[in-house]
Amino acid sequence: MGWWRETIQVVKENDPTARSSLEVLLTYPGVKALAAHRLSHFLWRHGFKLLARMHSQFWRFWTQIEIHPGAQIEKGVFIDHGSGLVIGETAVVESGAMLYHGVTLGGTGKDVGKRHPTVRRGALISAHAQVIGPVEIGENAKVGAAAVVVSDVPSDVTVVGIPAKVVRVHGKKDKDAIHQIEEERESKYYTSKLDQLRHESLHSSNL
Ligand SMILES: CC(C)(COP(=O)(O)OP(=O)(O)OC[C@H]1O[C@@H](n2cnc3c(N)ncnc32)[C@H](O)[C@@H]1OP(=O)(O)O)[C@@H](O)C(=O)NCCC(=O)NCCS
Repeated sequence: MGWWRETIQVVKENDPTARSSLEVLLTYPGVKALAAHRLSHFLWRHGFKLLARMHSQFWRFWTQIEIHPGAQIEKGVFIDHGSGLVIGETAVVESGAMLYHGVTLGGTGKDVGKRHPTVRRGALISAHAQVIGPVEIGENAKVGAAAVVVSDVPSDVTVVGIPAKVVRVHGKKDKDAIHQIEEERESKYYTSKLDQLRHESLHSSNL
């Protein structure tokens, strides 16, 4: 399916208020922002970095959605409302993912290289959720409204709160599975923090 057709189709499938393709095309800021991003990303990849940034800022003004031209966004992504949404340079958003207004796919300011989140296929990032750092949101995972996510979220779980914790696994409140996943997330989180500290102290001792 072509990019436009798939983008409009995804909106109609996910938003019961979308009545026609023309309405989607004319009134959904997410569709405009994603279309603009295709050109910004093209310019970015072909070395026209300043032009790419100017183009993406121009569309930020019209849509209130800020997508860095370097971000990789597959077709079939749905941005609903979108106002205040920020997507960082090294973020990856796969097909079928849904992002609402106020979401940040941002950096911590401490990571280098890949420093923004990866959102896998079909994941839902609810309104005003803040996903920070090079974390991965697994396939079909759900992030609750206003959650702050600082560590990986496995596939098909729901996380809510600050910092975001698992509350459902495959849609069920399975306490044992939730406990096991949370332990794994915590140990992975602290291992990555230790690696980061080691890297920083090595770097400062080399100066
Ligand atoms: C998280 C969400 C996606 C629901 O996922 P779900 O897997 O169906 O989870 P449930 O609704 O069964 O909720 C699971 C638990 O998390 C709690 N919860 C749900 N959303 C929450 C949130 N944003 N913050 C804190 N707790 C939340 C529920 O009360 C429930 O608690 P319990 O275990 O004590 O019963 C949804 O509640 C949400 O946040 N939706 C917002 C969507 C959005 O942004 N809409 C904007 C439209 S304009």
